Amino acid sequence: MIVGKTARMADYDLLTLERRDDGVALLTLANGKVNALSQELLAEIRAAVHELARDLPGAVVVTGGDRLLAAGADISQFGGPSEADVIGEGFHTTLDALAALPRFVIAAVSGYALGGGCELALACDYRIASEKAVFGQPEILLGIIPGGGGTQRLARTVGASRAKEMCMTGRQVRAEEALRIGLADEVVAHDGLHERALSLAAEAATGAVAAQAITKRVIDAGLSTSLADGLLLERAAFVEVFETDDSQIGVASFLEHGPGKASFTGR
Ligand code: COA
Repeated sequence: MIVGKTARMADYDLLTLERRDDGVALLTLANGKVNALSQELLAEIRAAVHELARDLPGAVVVTGGDRLLAAGADISQFGGPSEADVIGEGFHTTLDALAALPRFVIAAVSGYALGGGCELALACDYRIASEKAVFGQPEILLGIIPGGGGTQRLARTVGASRAKEMCMTGRQVRAEEALRIGLADEVVAHDGLHERALSLAAEAATGAVAAQAITKRVIDAGLSTSLADGLLLERAAFVEVFETDDSQIGVASFLEHGPGKASFTGR
């Protein structure tokens, strides 16, 4: 059941950012027919992410229209290498900032998530796909390559050989296959997409978000290092988490009332 209501809407032209009273921030792209990720839309996503980072919600849902998340970079802004440099920087700074948000970030993918749309979904922690969702990195069909993290985040998500096949042929992947290869984490009925994403986000938002932030940081950092170094990161983080109020609350609540009863403060 969704209990959250919109508490506040910030002022953007190409997206909406809603803060719900269940602690979830809902970021919805709204840029014309296909949500082309133009430099202007990327700048707004960046501004929205910075706004969220300054005043962290409990969790975030990123979504688009009813037919698509986004059709990728705005192809009309392409030119030569100097335009590519600017576009690539716009994508990387935006999606890195989104990926670094210290909260659980869920992509709700209603339909097409192509090129930069797929890369946007990959920069989220978890992808819930409508049964109508279609993922792909079709850049090769334009004679170019993914420039928003696709070569790296897709390979880390589905493995190098599947990422190569998708990026080198431009083949699009429907929801069920996306689920099978780990590109989507759940597939739900189209009409239930937002309810499922918002209720999972609300569940995370009432959890121990400080510990969630440490968990996310350590998992992401560990993916870029050796197992031995990742385990060292975890050892330090395991000590750090006991400095949070919620660790004291959670342990005391377990000892007194049993599992799953703690009311966390987020600190
Ligand atoms: N950048 C700029 N414009 C785009 C776009 C993009 N990435 N994707 C679609 N558009 C435009 C189309 O040119 C068309 O413009 P028009 O109405 O002025 O003719 C409009 O959006 C609708 O696209 P259309 O292809 O007619 O819609 P569709 O519903 O048949 O298909 C897609 C939707 C998303 C499947 C299809 O547009 C597509 O494959 N887009 C390109 C995806 C891509 O290659 N992304 C990687 C970019 S590097």
